[in-house]
Amino acid sequence: MRIRVLTLFPQMFDCLNESIIGRAIKSGKLDFQAVDIRAYSKDKHQKCDDTPYGGGAGMVMTAQPVYDCINAVDPNHEYLRIYMSPKGERLSDSLCRSLAQNDSILLLCGHYEGIDQRVLDLCIDREISIGDYVLSGGELAAMVVIDSAARFVDGVLGSAVSHEDETFSDGMLEYPQYTRPPTFMGLSVPEVLLNGNHKEIDKFRKQQSRALTEKLRPDLLSDTDDGKR
Ligand code: ADE
Repeated sequence: MRIRVLTLFPQMFDCLNESIIGRAIKSGKLDFQAVDIRAYSKDKHQKCDDTPYGGGAGMVMTAQPVYDCINAVDPNHEYLRIYMSPKGERLSDSLCRSLAQNDSILLLCGHYEGIDQRVLDLCIDREISIGDYVLSGGELAAMVVIDSAARFVDGVLGSAVSHEDETFSDGMLEYPQYTRPPTFMGLSVPEVLLNGNHKEIDKFRKQQSRALTEKLRPDLLSDTDDGKR
Protein backbone atom coordinates (compact mmCIF):
# COMPACT_ATOMS: atom_id res chain seq x y z
CA MET A 1 0.00 0.00 0.00
CA ARG A 2 1.24 3.49 -0.87
CA ILE A 3 0.66 6.14 1.78
CA ARG A 4 1.50 9.81 1.39
CA VAL A 5 0.93 12.33 4.16
CA LEU A 6 0.89 16.02 3.25
CA THR A 7 1.86 18.12 6.24
CA LEU A 8 3.69 21.22 7.46
CA PHE A 9 5.41 18.99 10.04
CA PRO A 10 6.82 15.91 8.25
CA GLN A 11 9.18 15.06 11.10
CA MET A 12 6.24 14.27 13.35
CA PHE A 13 5.87 11.06 11.32
CA ASP A 14 9.32 9.74 12.26
CA CYS A 15 7.65 7.70 15.01
CA LEU A 16 6.06 5.46 12.35
CA ASN A 17 9.51 3.97 11.82
CA GLU A 18 9.10 1.99 15.05
CA SER A 19 7.53 -1.39 15.79
CA ILE A 20 5.04 -3.10 13.44
CA ILE A 21 4.51 -0.18 11.06
CA GLY A 22 8.26 0.50 10.97
CA ARG A 23 8.92 -3.13 10.00
CA ALA A 24 6.24 -2.98 7.31
CA ILE A 25 7.86 0.15 5.86
CA LYS A 26 11.33 -1.43 5.93
CA SER A 27 10.09 -4.62 4.27
CA GLY A 28 8.25 -2.66 1.55
CA LYS A 29 4.73 -3.80 2.53
CA LEU A 30 4.02 -0.11 3.11
CA ASP A 31 5.48 2.58 0.88
CA PHE A 32 5.28 5.62 3.17
CA GLN A 33 6.37 9.23 2.70
CA ALA A 34 5.59 12.41 4.61
CA VAL A 35 5.65 15.33 2.16
CA ASP A 36 6.37 18.89 3.32
CA ILE A 37 3.63 21.24 2.04
CA ARG A 38 5.88 24.25 2.73
CA ALA A 39 8.28 23.13 -0.02
CA TYR A 40 5.50 23.95 -2.54
CA SER A 41 4.82 27.49 -1.33
CA LYS A 42 5.46 30.17 -3.96
CA ASP A 43 5.67 32.86 -1.29
CA LYS A 44 9.18 34.33 -0.97
CA HIS A 45 9.26 33.38 2.72
CA GLN A 46 7.52 30.04 2.04
CA LYS A 47 4.53 31.28 4.03
CA CYS A 48 1.62 28.84 4.04
CA ASP A 49 -1.02 30.65 6.11
CA ASP A 50 -2.95 33.91 6.21
CA THR A 51 -5.71 35.63 8.19
CA PRO A 52 -9.28 34.46 7.56
CA TYR A 53 -11.55 36.46 5.23
CA GLY A 54 -14.47 37.73 7.28
CA GLY A 55 -12.32 38.05 10.37
CA GLY A 56 -11.95 35.80 13.38
CA ALA A 57 -9.16 34.30 15.40
CA GLY A 58 -6.19 32.37 14.10
CA MET A 59 -4.77 31.66 10.67
CA VAL A 60 -5.95 29.63 7.69
CA MET A 61 -3.67 27.51 5.48
CA THR A 62 -3.53 29.06 2.00
CA ALA A 63 -4.79 27.16 -1.02
CA GLN A 64 -1.76 27.47 -3.34
CA PRO A 65 0.87 25.36 -1.50
CA VAL A 66 -1.66 22.67 -0.59
CA TYR A 67 -3.08 22.54 -4.13
CA ASP A 68 0.36 22.35 -5.74
CA CYS A 69 1.56 19.75 -3.24
CA ILE A 70 -1.46 17.49 -3.87
CA ASN A 71 -1.03 17.77 -7.63
CA ALA A 72 2.71 17.12 -7.47
CA VAL A 73 2.23 13.98 -5.36
CA ASP A 74 -0.88 12.72 -7.17
CA PRO A 75 -1.06 14.28 -10.67
CA ASN A 76 -3.42 11.61 -12.04
CA HIS A 77 -5.68 11.26 -9.01
CA GLU A 78 -4.62 7.67 -8.30
CA TYR A 79 -4.79 8.13 -4.54
CA LEU A 80 -7.85 8.18 -2.32
CA ARG A 81 -7.45 11.74 -1.05
CA ILE A 82 -8.46 12.15 2.58
CA TYR A 83 -8.55 15.32 4.64
CA MET A 84 -8.12 14.78 8.39
CA SER A 85 -10.83 16.85 10.05
CA PRO A 86 -13.02 16.76 13.16
CA LYS A 87 -15.95 17.34 10.75
CA GLY A 88 -15.26 14.08 8.90
CA GLU A 89 -16.73 10.59 9.04
CA ARG A 90 -15.80 8.92 12.32
CA LEU A 91 -13.00 6.30 12.11
CA SER A 92 -14.14 2.78 13.01
CA ASP A 93 -12.94 -0.79 12.66
CA SER A 94 -14.94 -1.20 9.43
CA LEU A 95 -13.60 2.06 7.97
CA CYS A 96 -10.02 0.92 8.75
CA ARG A 97 -10.67 -2.35 6.95
CA SER A 98 -12.10 -0.61 3.90
CA LEU A 99 -9.26 1.94 3.75
CA ALA A 100 -6.81 -0.97 3.71
CA GLN A 101 -8.40 -2.15 0.43
CA ASN A 102 -7.01 0.91 -1.39
CA ASP A 103 -3.68 0.71 -3.23
CA SER A 104 -2.87 4.33 -2.52
CA ILE A 105 -4.09 6.78 0.11
CA LEU A 106 -3.13 10.42 0.59
CA LEU A 107 -3.77 12.03 3.98
CA LEU A 108 -3.88 15.82 4.09
CA CYS A 109 -3.19 17.39 7.49
CA GLY A 110 -4.47 20.85 8.29
CA HIS A 111 -3.19 23.16 10.98
CA TYR A 112 -4.25 26.39 12.64
CA GLU A 113 -7.93 27.11 11.83
CA GLY A 114 -7.90 24.71 8.88
CA ILE A 115 -7.35 24.93 5.12
CA ASP A 116 -8.93 27.27 2.56
CA GLN A 117 -12.20 25.48 1.68
CA ARG A 118 -11.62 25.87 -2.07
CA VAL A 119 -8.70 23.46 -2.11
CA LEU A 120 -10.78 20.90 -0.20
CA ASP A 121 -13.66 21.33 -2.66
CA LEU A 122 -11.30 20.94 -5.62
CA CYS A 123 -9.14 18.06 -4.47
CA ILE A 124 -10.47 15.98 -1.56
CA ASP A 125 -12.47 12.73 -1.82
CA ARG A 126 -13.44 12.28 1.81
CA GLU A 127 -12.89 13.63 5.31
CA ILE A 128 -12.11 11.45 8.33
CA SER A 129 -12.27 12.32 12.02
CA ILE A 130 -10.77 10.21 14.80
CA GLY A 131 -13.28 11.46 17.37
CA ASP A 132 -15.33 14.34 18.67
CA TYR A 133 -12.53 16.53 19.93
CA VAL A 134 -10.28 19.06 18.21
CA LEU A 135 -6.56 18.38 17.80
CA SER A 136 -4.14 21.19 17.05
CA GLY A 137 -3.46 19.61 13.67
CA GLY A 138 -4.36 16.58 11.57
CA GLU A 139 -0.99 14.86 12.06
CA LEU A 140 -1.82 12.77 15.13
CA ALA A 141 -5.12 11.80 13.52
CA ALA A 142 -3.31 10.76 10.32
CA MET A 143 -0.97 8.56 12.37
CA VAL A 144 -3.96 6.89 13.98
CA VAL A 145 -5.47 6.21 10.54
CA ILE A 146 -2.19 4.86 9.17
CA ASP A 147 -1.52 2.59 12.13
CA SER A 148 -5.05 1.23 12.40
CA ALA A 149 -5.61 0.72 8.64
CA ALA A 150 -2.15 -0.70 7.87
CA ARG A 151 -2.80 -3.57 10.26
CA PHE A 152 -5.34 -4.85 7.70
CA VAL A 153 -2.89 -4.73 4.79
CA ASP A 154 -1.71 -8.24 3.89
CA GLY A 155 1.64 -9.08 5.42
CA VAL A 156 1.84 -6.09 7.78
CA LEU A 157 1.09 -8.20 10.85
CA GLY A 158 3.43 -11.17 10.50
CA SER A 159 1.91 -14.65 10.16
CA ALA A 160 2.22 -15.19 13.93
CA VAL A 161 -0.09 -12.26 14.69
CA SER A 162 -3.66 -12.01 13.57
CA HIS A 163 -6.24 -9.28 13.85
CA GLU A 164 -9.11 -11.76 13.83
CA ASP A 165 -9.01 -12.35 17.61
CA GLU A 166 -8.68 -8.69 18.45
CA THR A 167 -11.11 -6.29 20.00
CA PHE A 168 -13.87 -5.29 17.50
CA SER A 169 -12.98 -8.11 15.07
CA ASP A 170 -16.30 -9.81 15.85
CA GLY A 171 -17.98 -6.76 17.32
CA MET A 172 -16.81 -7.56 20.85
CA LEU A 173 -13.92 -6.64 23.12
CA GLU A 174 -10.97 -9.02 23.19
CA TYR A 175 -10.56 -11.48 26.09
CA PRO A 176 -7.74 -10.76 28.62
CA GLN A 177 -4.27 -12.14 27.85
CA TYR A 178 -1.73 -13.69 30.22
CA THR A 179 1.84 -14.93 29.93
CA ARG A 180 4.51 -16.41 32.22
CA PRO A 181 4.87 -16.67 35.19
CA PRO A 182 1.73 -18.62 36.19
CA THR A 183 1.49 -16.64 39.45
CA PHE A 184 2.39 -12.95 39.87
CA MET A 185 1.94 -10.98 43.11
CA GLY A 186 -0.38 -13.73 44.34
CA LEU A 187 -2.58 -13.61 41.21
CA SER A 188 -2.82 -16.83 39.18
CA VAL A 189 -3.50 -17.28 35.50
CA PRO A 190 -6.97 -18.89 34.99
CA GLU A 191 -6.43 -22.65 35.25
CA VAL A 192 -8.19 -23.41 31.95
CA LEU A 193 -5.46 -21.60 29.98
CA LEU A 194 -2.80 -23.95 31.35
CA ASN A 195 -4.44 -27.29 30.53
CA GLY A 196 -3.85 -27.31 26.75
CA ASN A 197 -7.49 -28.14 25.95
CA HIS A 198 -8.10 -25.79 23.03
CA LYS A 199 -11.83 -26.34 22.86
CA GLU A 200 -12.18 -25.34 26.52
CA ILE A 201 -9.78 -22.42 26.06
CA ASP A 202 -11.80 -21.16 23.10
CA LYS A 203 -15.05 -21.44 25.06
CA PHE A 204 -13.53 -19.67 28.08
CA ARG A 205 -12.19 -16.83 25.95
CA LYS A 206 -15.55 -16.34 24.23
CA GLN A 207 -17.26 -16.15 27.62
CA GLN A 208 -14.68 -13.62 28.83
CA SER A 209 -15.11 -11.55 25.68
CA ARG A 210 -18.85 -11.48 26.07
CA ALA A 211 -18.76 -10.65 29.80
CA LEU A 212 -16.27 -7.82 29.23
CA THR A 213 -18.31 -6.39 26.38
CA GLU A 214 -21.51 -6.51 28.44
CA LYS A 215 -19.74 -4.76 31.30
CA LEU A 216 -17.66 -2.15 29.46
CA ARG A 217 -19.32 -1.62 26.07
CA PRO A 218 -22.92 -2.87 26.08
CA ASP A 219 -23.56 -0.57 23.10
CA LEU A 220 -21.53 -2.98 20.92
CA LEU A 221 -24.02 -5.80 21.48
CA SER A 222 -26.78 -5.20 18.97
CA ASP A 223 -30.50 -5.85 19.56
CA THR A 224 -30.46 -8.74 17.10
CA ASP A 225 -27.62 -10.46 18.94
CA ASP A 226 -28.77 -13.96 19.90
CA GLY A 227 -26.02 -14.47 22.46
CA LYS A 228 -24.37 -17.30 20.51
CA ARG A 229 -21.08 -15.57 19.73
N1 ADE B 1 -7.89 17.55 13.10
C1 ADE B 1 -8.20 18.20 14.24
N2 ADE B 1 -8.98 17.46 15.01
C2 ADE B 1 -9.18 16.28 14.36
C3 ADE B 1 -9.91 15.10 14.64
N3 ADE B 1 -10.61 14.96 15.77
N4 ADE B 1 -9.89 14.10 13.74
C4 ADE B 1 -9.21 14.25 12.59
N5 ADE B 1 -8.50 15.34 12.26
C5 ADE B 1 -8.48 16.35 13.13
